[in-house]
Amino acid sequence: MDTIQTQRLTLRPFTPDDAPALFAVFSLPEVARWSGTGTPMTDVSEAQARIERMPVRAGDHPAAGLFAVVPHDTGRVVGMALLVRIPASKGFDGDDHEVGWHLHPDAWGNGFATEAATALVARGFAAGMPRVLAVTDPDNVRSQAVCTRLGMTDLGLRPDWYDRELRAFGLDRP
Ligand SMILES: CC(C)(COP(=O)(O)OP(=O)(O)OC[C@H]1O[C@@H](n2cnc3c(N)ncnc32)[C@H](O)[C@@H]1OP(=O)(O)O)[C@@H](O)C(=O)NCCC(=O)NCCS
Repeated sequence: MDTIQTQRLTLRPFTPDDAPALFAVFSLPEVARWSGTGTPMTDVSEAQARIERMPVRAGDHPAAGLFAVVPHDTGRVVGMALLVRIPASKGFDGDDHEVGWHLHPDAWGNGFATEAATALVARGFAAGMPRVLAVTDPDNVRSQAVCTRLGMTDLGLRPDWYDRELRAFGLDRP
């Protein structure tokens, strides 16, 4: 997995040394509530395990990956941006990819999620993905605003992924 440069960010693979920074993000209820089980991490070992699972989580598409988001001005990891295979719900088919974002609250309000996701969507399209999805908790207004800023189409509430009803957004390859 390679490194991506945007105007203000480096997007790079996680290393085991990033576990404390990842833990600092996912131990916060205001971040954790919107992903997975919704339970904040309580020990840095959970972040280590998550980093170890990342290659499997990404899927085998060459453009897919989970990237540490590192602003050029501080050089510190402020969160994660991802382009990964999206798991279809039971009884649904699908071979789609999703773009996603999770940042430390100190980094919100800078356009970093949108800047990172713009680069990842372009990467996916350049590598042949026909469309990229994003799925959000129906109440996750901040995340839905990122989808809108990316120019994604609101697909409404869908049960197709993660065995849950989520508000989905999609963008077709231009
Ligand atoms: C979802 C999340 C990543 C959104 O972060 P964000 O910083 O609001 O999103 P963006 O990167 O698009 O930034 C947009 C904000 O930065 C501001 N901004 C400042 N400088 C900017 C710039 N140079 N370019 C663009 N926007 C800029 C925008 O005005 C906007 O502010 P507003 O929210 O007050 O309107 C963040 O809230 C988060 O990590 N939440 C918890 C985890 C989560 O929900 N993940 C998604 C699961 S589906």
